Amino acid sequence: MAKVIEEIRRAQRADGPATVLGIGTATPANCIYQADYPDYYFRITNSEHLSDLKEKFKRMCEKSMIRKRYMHLNEELLKENPNICTYNAPSLVVRQDMVVVEVPKLGKEAASKAIKEWGQPKSRITHLVFCTTSGVDMPGADYQLTKLLGLSPSIKRFMMYQQGCFAGGTMLRLAKDLAENNRGARVLVVCSEITAITFRGPSESHLDNLIGQALFGDGAAAVIVGADPDTAVERPLFQIVSAAQTIVPDSEGALDCHLREAGLMFYLRKDIPVLISKNIEKSLVEAFEPLGISDWNSLFWIPHPGGPAILNQVESKLGLDQQKLKATRHVLSEYGNMTSACVLFILDEMRKRSADEGKATTGEGLDWGVLFGFGPGLTIETVVLRSVPINVH
Ligand SMILES: CC(C)(COP(=O)(O)OP(=O)(O)OC[C@H]1O[C@@H](n2cnc3c(N)ncnc32)[C@H](O)[C@@H]1OP(=O)(O)O)[C@@H](O)C(=O)NCCC(=O)NCCS
Repeated sequence: MAKVIEEIRRAQRADGPATVLGIGTATPANCIYQADYPDYYFRITNSEHLSDLKEKFKRMCEKSMIRKRYMHLNEELLKENPNICTYNAPSLVVRQDMVVVEVPKLGKEAASKAIKEWGQPKSRITHLVFCTTSGVDMPGADYQLTKLLGLSPSIKRFMMYQQGCFAGGTMLRLAKDLAENNRGARVLVVCSEITAITFRGPSESHLDNLIGQALFGDGAAAVIVGADPDTAVERPLFQIVSAAQTIVPDSEGALDCHLREAGLMFYLRKDIPVLISKNIEKSLVEAFEPLGISDWNSLFWIPHPGGPAILNQVESKLGLDQQKLKATRHVLSEYGNMTSACVLFILDEMRKRSADEGKATTGEGLDWGVLFGFGPGLTIETVVLRSVPINVH
């Protein structure tokens, strides 16, 4: 009897590792330039009288290393919904009404691009994992996306709400387990974030609110993940080799977000960059020691750009060469911090840049890479990636 079960299990599982087979990204059309943002933000929130705070906000924006961001919220929407512009006015309903519609819509745009690159019929998608920190609903954004894309009603769905900035890594971890434990599975992963849940006016007693107002942007990213690709019709981009999650010691309260009548409130302590940079090497050692890798400069790097201070401190603590975080810094500069979607944007940027620059692999010519999620807890997600050769035709 035991033998039969073993055979069944073997037949159920895939042979090879989970592999990324397509990537797509999307943003709202409304583009905001960081250089103009302090004037716009203080005007639209009727806060011009708080001139010291505006100067502080200008310094935060200047140091953000962000050039532009995209936001669903535009001047017209903000004027129509003044409660979103105040610091602490009841506004959850109007925020929810926006994100419940916009999150799946933006997710659909990214997913359509990922499916197009994958090149296979939608009917081959077996699982959907959807993640957003922007609002909650039932049935959820996973259900809405299934309808919007016309996926099979029997697709197996998972919805991850309210995870925060580490969740791009969580989604790859989940997709890996699904793809490797279900032979033939093709998992559509979607991360979609809209800042209409967190946008609010300034407050002199909540300065870390301003940090988020200076950093966060909207964006959605999607990937198709499956094991044992049929290379006649599917093109592997990265293999997902291992995935781990950990809570940073002594970090309780460093980064918390709470859903209130006034929307999603976030609290960011100043020591987040120190806590991450101090603890990141332990995650690297645990992930790469089994592979015999200890030179962090031999890896390609996809860390979540929570803010430039996190990137700078990780870079200097680990002695990373300056160009290691180039793709990451580019995404931060062009889109801001898009919470869970950021790391997938960087994955996309990495393979495109590698191809454009004539590199031998999708990971800047290197074999092995690391993708890091950082977020509430503090929580670190560590995903080990293996690049694939770029075929020059
Ligand atoms: C915000 C940030 C871009 C500022 O850049 P910086 O090089 O550190 O510059 P500074 O230290 O001069 O900070 C700029 C201002 O922001 C303030 N500030 C920085 N972090 C802050 C925090 N967590 N809470 C409140 N104020 C903060 C500083 O006190 C300073 O104010 P001042 O100009 O009046 O002195 C940078 O600190 C950063 O990337 N932080 C990490 C953001 C984060 O935690 N993201 C996690 C989300 S996943």
